Amino acid sequence: MLITFEGIDASGKSTQAKLFADFLSLSHEKNIFVREPGGTKTGEDIRQILLHKDYGMFAETEFLLFSAARAQLTREVIIPALQKGYIVVTDRFSDSSLAYQGYGRGLDIDTVKQISCFAVNNLCPDMTFFIDIPVEDAIDRMRKEMKSDRIEVEGSDFFDRVRRGYLKLEEDHASRIHVIDGTRDVEQIQDEIREIFLNHPVK
Ligand code: ADP
Ligand code: TYD
Repeated sequence: MLITFEGIDASGKSTQAKLFADFLSLSHEKNIFVREPGGTKTGEDIRQILLHKDYGMFAETEFLLFSAARAQLTREVIIPALQKGYIVVTDRFSDSSLAYQGYGRGLDIDTVKQISCFAVNNLCPDMTFFIDIPVEDAIDRMRKEMKSDRIEVEGSDFFDRVRRGYLKLEEDHASRIHVIDGTRDVEQIQDEIREIFLNHPVK
């Protein structure tokens, strides 16, 4: 079973994904936790290129690099783990490319979908938690964290398009994507995620 966490930068998705993986470990579920872009040696190297704020990059280049990192992670880590019966929890997956490079950067959505599917051998998550917070809250959190990597210097219009993109994806895949109100306490959010998971039998 593949479970993915999505959201705009600083939405709290990494916090929730890690807590959820800890919960799976406590209940003795065989699980692994991976992050994107990265999770493999090749992917971590690509991540350095992608997040280096001094590089100018076309949207197409950015998209193909994210896809390349994901192609490696999928084949090297995710598919072998799924074949051994693990629950795989990922911090971001293909929906990030649709939301950021498709809706955010304005690349053609169908092209992004096709290349993303090719990159991951048509693997689709079984369950996705989209941690949703208002863009202004996310920007406040980024300022507090003093994060200013290449993408985080984009400003609110960009993150607004990305957030709306995620909401559009949820409309199209309502049974897979769960929109979670990320403005609450960490524990409240995590409780809701666990409850949704427990009400869906593991395949
Ligand atoms: P992301 O992976 O989406 O960038 P993180 O989990 O790294 O988000 O969290 C971003 C920042 O927001 C961190 O400083 C974290 O401590 C804080 N944070 C996470 N969840 C919450 C929450 N529910 N309420 C307030 N702050 C939060
Ligand atoms: P991440 O490390 O998850 O950042 P954060 O924890 O701050 O959300 O992701 C790094 C950045 O890469 C983030 O701004 C989102 C972006 N990204 C894309 O634009 N497209 C993608 O396909 C992925 C996986 C990430």
